Amino acid sequence: MKRSTVLQAALLTCGLSFSVASLAGVASASVASGAMLAHTCAGCHGTNGVSQGPATPTIAGSDYDYLVASMIEYKRGKRGSTIMTRIAKGYGHTEIKAMARFFADQEYVLADQTYDAAAAKRGKKLHKEYCINCHVEDGATLDEDEDAALLGGQWRPYLTYTCDDYKTDKRGMSKKMRKKYDLMQKEAGDQSIFDLLEFYASQK
Ligand code: HEC
Ligand code: HEC
Repeated sequence: MKRSTVLQAALLTCGLSFSVASLAGVASASVASGAMLAHTCAGCHGTNGVSQGPATPTIAGSDYDYLVASMIEYKRGKRGSTIMTRIAKGYGHTEIKAMARFFADQEYVLADQTYDAAAAKRGKKLHKEYCINCHVEDGATLDEDEDAALLGGQWRPYLTYTCDDYKTDKRGMSKKMRKKYDLMQKEAGDQSIFDLLEFYASQK
C-alpha cells in the first residue's frame, strides 16, 4: 500500500475527531497508520504478527529497535532473506518505524511445537552459560538494555534457517554475540546449536 493511500484512509477514519479536536485526530491518525500498514504483513506473519507458519517468525512483541534494524538491514540487502528484502524495499523509514511500533506493542505468543526433551535439557544449560546475558531469562523475555531477539517460543524452523545464515555469513552478528556463539561451538561441539534450538522450542 502506498503511504499516501494509507494516510488518506487514516484521515477518513479519524475525520470526525479531526473536526472536533485536531490534536486528538493527529494522534489517532499516526496510530492507525502503523496498524494499517501492518495489515499487509499479516498474510505471512499472522494476525498482529503472531505467526502460524513455522518458516516465518513471530514478530509480535519483539523489541522495537530490533524490528527497525531488521527492516533496514533487509532493505539494504545486508541480511540474507528469501522474501523480506523485496518487501522491505517498498517502505520508507517513517513507515518502518510505525510498523515496528505496532508490532512491538503486540503481545508475544509462544509457538506450540514438538521437541526432544533430552536435547532441550542440554540446551537449557548451554543457554545459561553462553546466551543468557543478552537473551535474558529463558530467551522469551526482552531486557530493556539489549536490543536482542526473542528466541524462546520462536518457530524452530525459522531459527534453524537463521543459524544456517549465521554459519554461512549470509547474516552478520555483533562481535559480542559472535564471541559467545563461537566459544559455545568450540567447547560444546556442533550438537550445541541443535540442543539450544530444542530448548527454545520447548517453551510454550
Ligand atoms: C510473503 C510473506 C511475508 C510477508 C508479506 C512479510 N514477511 Fe516478514 N518475513 C517473512 C519470512 C519468510 C521471514 C524470514 C526471512 C526471509 O526468509 O525473508 C520474515 C522475517 C521478518 C522479520 C525478521 C524477524 C526476526 O525475528 O528477526 C521482520 C522484522 C519482518 N519479517 C517484518 C515484516 C513486516 C513489517 C512485513 C509487512 C510490511 C512483513 N514482514 C511481510 C515473510 C513475510
Ligand atoms: C552480547 C549479547 C548477545 C549474546 C551473548 C548473544 N546474543 Fe544472540 N542476539 C543479540 C542481539 C543484539 C540480536 C539481534 C541483533 C542481531 O541480529 O545481531 C541477537 C539475535 C540472535 C538471533 C536471531 C533471532 C531472530 O529472530 O532472527 C539468534 C538465533 C541468536 N541471537 C542466538 C544466540 C545464541 C544461540 C547465543 C548464545 C550462544 C546468543 N545469541 C548470544 C545479542 C546477543
